[in-house]
Amino acid sequence: MQVIQHVAEMQAVAELLRARGKRIGVVPTMGYLHEGHLSLVRLARSHCDTVIATLFVNPTQFGPTEDFERYPRDLDRDLKLAAEAGADTLFCPDTKEMYPDGSATFVDVEGVSAVLEGKFRPTHFRGVTTVVAKILNTTKPHLAVFGQKDAQQAFLVTKMARELNFDVQILVGPTVREQDGLALSSRNVYLSADERLRATALFRALKHAEMLIARGERSAAHIRSQMLALLADAAPAKIDYVAFVRPASFQETELLEPPSVLIALAVWFGSTRLIDNMTIPIS
Ligand code: PAJ
Repeated sequence: MQVIQHVAEMQAVAELLRARGKRIGVVPTMGYLHEGHLSLVRLARSHCDTVIATLFVNPTQFGPTEDFERYPRDLDRDLKLAAEAGADTLFCPDTKEMYPDGSATFVDVEGVSAVLEGKFRPTHFRGVTTVVAKILNTTKPHLAVFGQKDAQQAFLVTKMARELNFDVQILVGPTVREQDGLALSSRNVYLSADERLRATALFRALKHAEMLIARGERSAAHIRSQMLALLADAAPAKIDYVAFVRPASFQETELLEPPSVLIALAVWFGSTRLIDNMTIPIS
């Protein structure tokens, strides 16, 4: 696997690959890779001739009180895992390379970036869409793959790419979970053993909602109250939201209508904030 740290070199390599007729897939990550990330590398691999994984802990998507400094990092391990999963290139720039001194250009998708996650992390999505735009302009992919685990991020990146005429296809891969349902996340390492056990409540609450909907329940308020009760049993430090969203617009709704609803939640265990979601068909 080729490791590239500089934007100009990455652009030159991407240009060469394109000139050779190669279909390029990119998987943007912040590293500390787990099976969720690796499933996206494999998905990109199955659609493309060559896969670029990117690894950059992006400072602009962290709020001032968030975990940028302590975000887990292990480059040696990531190199090995990315190569094993089928990445041909790892692009891992440093902060100065991605944000040269005096950088003042941001990409902001208005509206959806301010709801749900955006309400609790006001500058987060501006940082995400800005860095993803930079990554797309640097790696020149035909396909970029994101995870459904971060459903609002996937929605916003897709919207940005369409509206800014990025010549790229966006593909969204399914959420990979632990056996007990906890969605894989680099941040799971922050959880104590006890918090890790209690954190399974997120998936249990989503599965409970799925069961209620399958039985014909159509009141978001009723489903939410049962989910909140289930979550409360796990003694979380805080519940930021349990939201019902129309997948096509990412607008919140209290009415469950066909074809599907996305239920998204954000819950704190100790000082760790976890998010999860599930798309549930409505007949
Ligand atoms: P990161 O959290 O490292 O995630 C990288 C990609 O992996 C994202 O598309 C995310 O949705 C996906 N992912 C994370 N956990 C997953 C899981 N359990 N199953 C499937 N996919 C999963 O998301 C980011 O980094 C950053 O915001 C980034 C897009 C790289 C921009 O900085």
